[in-house]
Amino acid sequence: MRDAAPQTINLKDYTPPAFLISSVNLDVDIREARVTVRATLKVARNPARGDSQEPLVLDGEDLELLSVSIDGKALSDSNYRVDEAHLVIAQVPGAFTLETQVGFDPWKNTKLEGLYATKAGLVTQCEAEGFRHITYFIDRPDVMAKYAATLCADKAAFPRLLANGNLVAQGEGEPAGWFLPGASATRHWARWEDPFPKPSYLFAMVAAQLELLEDHFTTRSGKLALLQVYVEPGKLDQAGFAMQSLKRCMQWDEEVFGLELDLERFMIVAVSDFNAGAMENKGLNIFNTKYILARADTATDYDYYSVDKVVAHEYFHNWTGNRVTCRDWFQLSLKEGLTVYRDQEYSGDEYSRPVGRIQEVRGLRDRQFPEDAGPMAHSVRPDSYVEINNFYTATVYEKGAEVVRMYATILGKEGFRRGMDLYFQRHDGQAVTCDDFRAAMADANGADLAQFSRWYSQSGTPVVECRGEYDARKKTYTLHAKQSCPPTPGQAKKLPFVVPLAVGLVDLDGHDMPLTVDPASAFSKGKQNSTTAVLALTQAEQSFVFTEVGEHPVPSLLRGFSAPVHVKHDYTEAELTHLMAYDSDPFNRWQAGQALVTRVLLAGVERIRADREMEIPPAFMEAVGRLISDGSRDPAFAAECLQLPAENYLAECMEVADPDAIHAARMKFMHDVATKYRTRFEGAFRHFAVPGPYSPDAAAAGRRALRNTALAYVSIIDDATSRALAFLEFRRAENMTDAMASLASLSNSAGAERDRALSMFYEKWKDEALVVDKWFRVQATSCLPGTLERVKALTAHPAFELRNPNRARALLHAFAMDNPVHFHAAGGDGYRWVAEQVIALDRLNPQVASRLARTFDRWKKYDAGRQGHARAALLSIRDAKDLSGNVAEVVGRALG
Ligand code: TRP
Ligand code: ZN
Repeated sequence: MRDAAPQTINLKDYTPPAFLISSVNLDVDIREARVTVRATLKVARNPARGDSQEPLVLDGEDLELLSVSIDGKALSDSNYRVDEAHLVIAQVPGAFTLETQVGFDPWKNTKLEGLYATKAGLVTQCEAEGFRHITYFIDRPDVMAKYAATLCADKAAFPRLLANGNLVAQGEGEPAGWFLPGASATRHWARWEDPFPKPSYLFAMVAAQLELLEDHFTTRSGKLALLQVYVEPGKLDQAGFAMQSLKRCMQWDEEVFGLELDLERFMIVAVSDFNAGAMENKGLNIFNTKYILARADTATDYDYYSVDKVVAHEYFHNWTGNRVTCRDWFQLSLKEGLTVYRDQEYSGDEYSRPVGRIQEVRGLRDRQFPEDAGPMAHSVRPDSYVEINNFYTATVYEKGAEVVRMYATILGKEGFRRGMDLYFQRHDGQAVTCDDFRAAMADANGADLAQFSRWYSQSGTPVVECRGEYDARKKTYTLHAKQSCPPTPGQAKKLPFVVPLAVGLVDLDGHDMPLTVDPASAFSKGKQNSTTAVLALTQAEQSFVFTEVGEHPVPSLLRGFSAPVHVKHDYTEAELTHLMAYDSDPFNRWQAGQALVTRVLLAGVERIRADREMEIPPAFMEAVGRLISDGSRDPAFAAECLQLPAENYLAECMEVADPDAIHAARMKFMHDVATKYRTRFEGAFRHFAVPGPYSPDAAAAGRRALRNTALAYVSIIDDATSRALAFLEFRRAENMTDAMASLASLSNSAGAERDRALSMFYEKWKDEALVVDKWFRVQATSCLPGTLERVKALTAHPAFELRNPNRARALLHAFAMDNPVHFHAAGGDGYRWVAEQVIALDRLNPQVASRLARTFDRWKKYDAGRQGHARAALLSIRDAKDLSGNVAEVVGRALG
């Protein structure tokens, strides 16, 4: 059944709920192909709404309503009304107990929201609006209740029965007086109570067959907590790293934010069918296996890093999201931006801070900047939405984290902590707004953050144009800064943002100059040292005067990426090379190199378009050579510097993107560099090998990153020697990082080793789902000619499953997002095929389909021919029968 006609929800229309619900009791009876839920709710009119006589309106979708009663009296069906999405009861008392019974079949639920079946059994996903698929409820986050749940199911099929909170009772058979007696005697039951009031989106339950890893953690106040990680049978040997990670992040949150676990038991369940990465349900986090399972031979360094980050992210939500939650879904970034910021800080402390920062900014520029420049652009706190699931975006998450980071930059680390403390002091147990968070930051620091609110309300990436002026006689250096923000859908004109602009001045020897600047024009609390000033750019145009500047400096702008903006400055190549070599800020050293290589590549694109040879300037070639030779100083950092800007990023830099020329320029660049430095790369490949047993620590992972980058360069040459090197590595590799790096190189190679390696890999790993995903992905992202045909054929492979989100993403999303040269093929074949897949996927899983549809977002960046094909593809989706609201919103916005 399809959703009712989609409606636009507006932030300005927010009103408190007409009713509040203080407690929820769920009795859940699980049988073959049938789940019955009896819900007992304590309901009362909301005093905040005065003495209104409104009817009780409950949300509920895809439910079979079996009975309704109020205060023990059954209602006849003339007393209520049921439509596609609601149960409406016109006459209700001021306070009452409502009981409903509903039934549904979770094995038919392919949307994976609400209660659904995965390999191991039944699990829930209630964020954002999944609870309404389990029972009738006022399914919005400002309705907070205490929950208890009793689950009853066959013991052999569902040995684990879990829900939020504490296990208060369990037994064989059925509980006394069970509401649906008479099933077989082989059942068992468990009753759970969550002591903390919570919104419905944090409810969770599990009835499944799972294996368990247990550990303990003593909190700093001395309370002993039970930690449990539940995984599918056979995967226990892949659960250890997640458990270690959980203990590390618990410790970190105590040390850095003074936040302790508030529960006696913290459970994680990992399942192979999951729409997102993971979910922070109170005390019962449910994860995609991708972010729990890790073993040296199955998971890459990056997988380990991601597991650590996501485990931390979900754990951190216990305070930022659960104890203090969102008033409405417009406030999503209140919990997501803040929690991403927290997981970034955790990773920064646990791994390399500069490398982490580089990767965050790369991600922001590759995904969020295009989003902010496209048809789906929205502010960090959106003004309106049709389908909330479409707003779990890079803007809400990653730009939201940058907005939180700016508080810390402006107020300083201690000031930020004071703000956090006040936020919890004021709002523990409440459902609040982004404005409440900003007010806590301001009040705890006596700061005026009124103008800062524009980061929440205005969309688009601000542009900051900088121009420097040196006066040798007065020894002053004046930095003129001008900010602007391009129009975005629904927002033609923007007001100036508060931009914390971290700046240093680098002298001719490459040293930082001590800075003297009017304190009124800088955020002095954010100042880390005397050689970086955090300038307060708050107006459309502003000039900052540095005095006692002994020589003409090279400005190092936006150090550490202190604000989510584009900075423009007319650097000479020599200045960028100087910064790349000497800037004391590692982020800006990387940034200078990226700016240079972007120039070289974009110039190359123009030459290729004009049928001329692309050239790498000799001075730049020299600098690249030094990067390889100096790799030992910080291999992970060197690997980042050697990684070229993504094809999609380069497309964003062009007026009209030319994906073929972009691909050709990147390949030519790598080919020329690899040819010139082949010996150095081969040397680095050997030199940075990591001896001994595998460890995912930052130092070892950094060495592997550099040697595998070297392998990637050499492999571009694609001769017999380079193939032999990659193939030997592929067979020798004992860890998945090295195995995948060599397989990725081979998958772009024309040699016979390619097919051999791919089939060896599949044979070895066909029973390990997450590794099979890698096998699909590496083929979907190959740049070889004929890739689309092979990808199409792979949809018929016995291991391909459109229903499984990880598998669908490994083939379809990977192709559309990470294979621009084939997705944007001039003849439109890529677009047509992806459009067909969007339609097919939408019938099963609208959330996953809608993500795939978003790969069309930037279709207007391309030439008229491609635009014609993309438009036709979008129209074919728009006109498909029974399109979901999710995909309709994305496609509607794209078509404009
Ligand atoms: N709240 C989750 C997180 O960021 C995200 C999430 C989990 C989600 N499941 C979802 C978002 C389903 C949309 C739909 O940690
Ligand atoms: Zn989150």
